[in-house]
Amino acid sequence: MTASNRVVLSSDHAAIPLRQAIAAHLARQDWVVVDIGPTTLESTHYPKHGEAAARRVASGDCRFGIILCGTGQGIMMAANKVKGIRCGVCADTFSARMIRRHNDANMLSIGARVVGEGLALDIVDAFLTADFEGGRHAARVDMITALEA
Ligand code: RB5
Repeated sequence: MTASNRVVLSSDHAAIPLRQAIAAHLARQDWVVVDIGPTTLESTHYPKHGEAAARRVASGDCRFGIILCGTGQGIMMAANKVKGIRCGVCADTFSARMIRRHNDANMLSIGARVVGEGLALDIVDAFLTADFEGGRHAARVDMITALEA
C-alpha cells in the first residue's frame, strides 16, 4: 500500500546541500521524508542513487520521489529505466506543475548546479501540490506505460 505522504529523496555528491534543504523544507510540511542519502560529499555515481529512489516509488513504499544531481539529467535518465517511473527534470515551476497534471509524473529531478535553493523549493512545492488531470491525458500516460512491455 502506498504511503501517500511519503517522499523519497536521493542525489549524488553534487546536490547534497540542496537535497538537505529540500528535506528540511518538506519536513516542515505534512510530508514524511525518506532521505536515502548519500550523506558524504565523496564523489559517487548518480545511476545507483536514481535507481534506489525509483525502486522506493515503483514498489509503493513512497508516493513520490525527488532526485538531484548536477544537472538533474543523468539521475533522471537512470530513474526512468525503472518500470513504472515517470520522472522529469524541472528548472521552472510551470513544468513542475504540468508533469503532474498531464504526465502523472511520480518523480521530479532537479539540477543543483542549475537552479538556486529558493527556486528549487518552489519547484518542489509546485510538483507536490499539483494533481493529475486524467481524461485525455490518461490515455497518453497509458501509451508511455505500454512502452515498458
Ligand atoms: C557529476 O559531476 C555530474 O556529472 C552529475 O552530478 C550529473 O550532472 C550528471 O548528470
